Amino acid sequence: MNVAVLGTGPVGQAIANRFVASGHAVRMGGRSLENERAQGGAAAHGPQASTADFAGAASFADLVVNCTSGTVSLDALRQAGEDNLANKILIDVANPLTSGGEATALSVCNTDSLAEQIQRAFPQTRVVKALNTMNNAVMGDPDRVPGDHNVFVCGNDDAAKSDVVELLRSFGWPAENIIDLGDITAARGTEMYLILWVRLCSILGTADFNIKIVQGDRALKNAGSRR
Ligand SMILES: NC(=O)c1ccc[n+]([C@@H]2O[C@H](COP(=O)([O-])OP(=O)(O)OC[C@H]3O[C@@H](n4cnc5c(N)ncnc54)[C@H](OP(=O)(O)O)[C@@H]3O)[C@@H](O)[C@H]2O)c1
Repeated sequence: MNVAVLGTGPVGQAIANRFVASGHAVRMGGRSLENERAQGGAAAHGPQASTADFAGAASFADLVVNCTSGTVSLDALRQAGEDNLANKILIDVANPLTSGGEATALSVCNTDSLAEQIQRAFPQTRVVKALNTMNNAVMGDPDRVPGDHNVFVCGNDDAAKSDVVELLRSFGWPAENIIDLGDITAARGTEMYLILWVRLCSILGTADFNIKIVQGDRALKNAGSRR
């Protein structure tokens, strides 16, 4: 499969690396063809990786991964081009963080989310929010955190979510640890978790941690009705 990784930061590099390791061809997209991080990253990922601007990467791809800064993702995706994104699965890994540390805040939250904004702006694109609730090193290497722990998917297109679940399984995520949260509005919760994630990272002194859902067996009356 041809994969566009939009964004050349640590997340883009980690995701590109994981797709190449799984045998896919990757084109990393940045703001310009001369992007040093993209060039260096592609070289490090070997002959299966190349670079382009956002549009060049998106047009090459069967599947697109948004690894741009969340506050500029809509801009970056517009540069990628609506036509180049149409009918394709877009895995949205981005978080709309406006700053870091104790001042961490989100540019959109509560009644909306970045993933919903992307889905509204690109209605022909099959947006699936996933992998945004953990450090980039864990995304494609879940064994980095010992034991069972969870990754979430959400989106409006069930077939797109199934394909993303298969991809996550190929990344090493056991099927039982992948939780489908329902439609794209669930991204509000996974994005807002980042406020807690940033605090935990600082308190624990490591980014190698993740969410583990532990549940009892007493079901609510309407249990599962939102999944
Ligand atoms: N760091 C993590 O472990 C982690 C974990 C989960 C989720 N996330 C989320 O994943 C995303 C990427 O994280 P990162 O740490 O790799 O980010 P980053 O280093 O900030 O990378 C940002 C990317 O956004 C692009 N960008 C910046 N300003 C832009 C603009 N004005 N217009 C268009 N594109 C612009 C950059 O393009 P150029 O290539 O042209 O410079 C770069 O490729 C973020 O949304 C982050 O919240 C991060």
